[in-house]
Amino acid sequence: MIDLDNSEVYQRLDPAGMRERIGELPQQCLEAWQQVLSFKLPKGYSNIDRIIILGMGGSAIGGDLLNCLASLESETPISVCRDYDLPHFVDGKTLVIASSYSGMTEETLSSFSQALTTPAKKLAITTGGRLKDIAGQNDIPILTIDYKAPPRAALAHSFIPLVGIYQKLGIISDKSKDVAEMVQILKDQQSTIDDSCPLKLNAAKQLATRLYSHLAIIYGAGFLSAAARRWKTQINENSKAWAFYEIFPELNHNAVVGYEFPTDLAQMLFVVLLRSPHLHPRTLIRYKLTAEMLSNAKVSHEIIDAKGESPLSQMMSLVFLGDWTSYYLSLLNETDPYPVKIIDFLKKRLAEEK
Ligand code: PA5
Repeated sequence: MIDLDNSEVYQRLDPAGMRERIGELPQQCLEAWQQVLSFKLPKGYSNIDRIIILGMGGSAIGGDLLNCLASLESETPISVCRDYDLPHFVDGKTLVIASSYSGMTEETLSSFSQALTTPAKKLAITTGGRLKDIAGQNDIPILTIDYKAPPRAALAHSFIPLVGIYQKLGIISDKSKDVAEMVQILKDQQSTIDDSCPLKLNAAKQLATRLYSHLAIIYGAGFLSAAARRWKTQINENSKAWAFYEIFPELNHNAVVGYEFPTDLAQMLFVVLLRSPHLHPRTLIRYKLTAEMLSNAKVSHEIIDAKGESPLSQMMSLVFLGDWTSYYLSLLNETDPYPVKIIDFLKKRLAEEK
């Protein structure tokens, strides 16, 4: 197996430096927070009673994370639209936020174009592309991302601006303290999971080693649901591996019944259970019982507890651990974590089909 403590491995398999992009997450969160605090929302944007975030893949997950955070305190319905068509309930009190790192994603451009024909308030988060052009032509405020990275590694710039915007709209409370705590937690965590920390002390390297050659299934719950999804998508895109996620308590009503067959599959699976003491007490009991059921089914698994106090820190500490774990898993798979050639190929083929 690849030696994760050998620096030559990093240069050979990660020439574009995904490890640097992942390692920049804490600092980028801080910079994105400062940027959004100085961003001025137009006056007419105060009277909002529903929010829709349009986006796909690495640009949509920030909306899911925000949704998890806001659901703990907000009365405003929030949804993430990952499709070509805008939902029909959009009206003059809806804020539509289009989030696309490249500004070229066709599903996001399609639903955003539909939003232009509605009285909804609109906002764009992007580095440029068609999204920036369309927003500019229609006098729609743009939060410009000025950070070079694959979209999924620019998470700080698709998620943290949403926290700031929701705060400005009064949909969630002031998150300044939570952002500061989160950045500190991520910085502290960094030295224990980045590539400079040896395998024997490094929880992410160890977990990647256990996940290697297994099909990863991530379990989450409540406000950790988006973190579970993020683990799945990072294992897909960084590690170039199959992965799935499931959510408590729903998984206790179906997934657990499927532990029996195919019989040969059990040895191939590895279930990661993302947990926080802030989850519903009955859900926490379900984690314990489900771990017992996984043991009985001879499925390898591990419970991982979130770090920090605030929900924001807890979510992001798990995201950060998952990002690093998926990174090491890419190296163990002897594949470059940076490019996503198959997505590029699909986008090119779709463009040809127009
Ligand atoms: O991580 C990725 O590269 C993808 O999931 C992209 O985020 C997705 O294809 C959407 O592209 P964009 O983020 O540029 O809108």
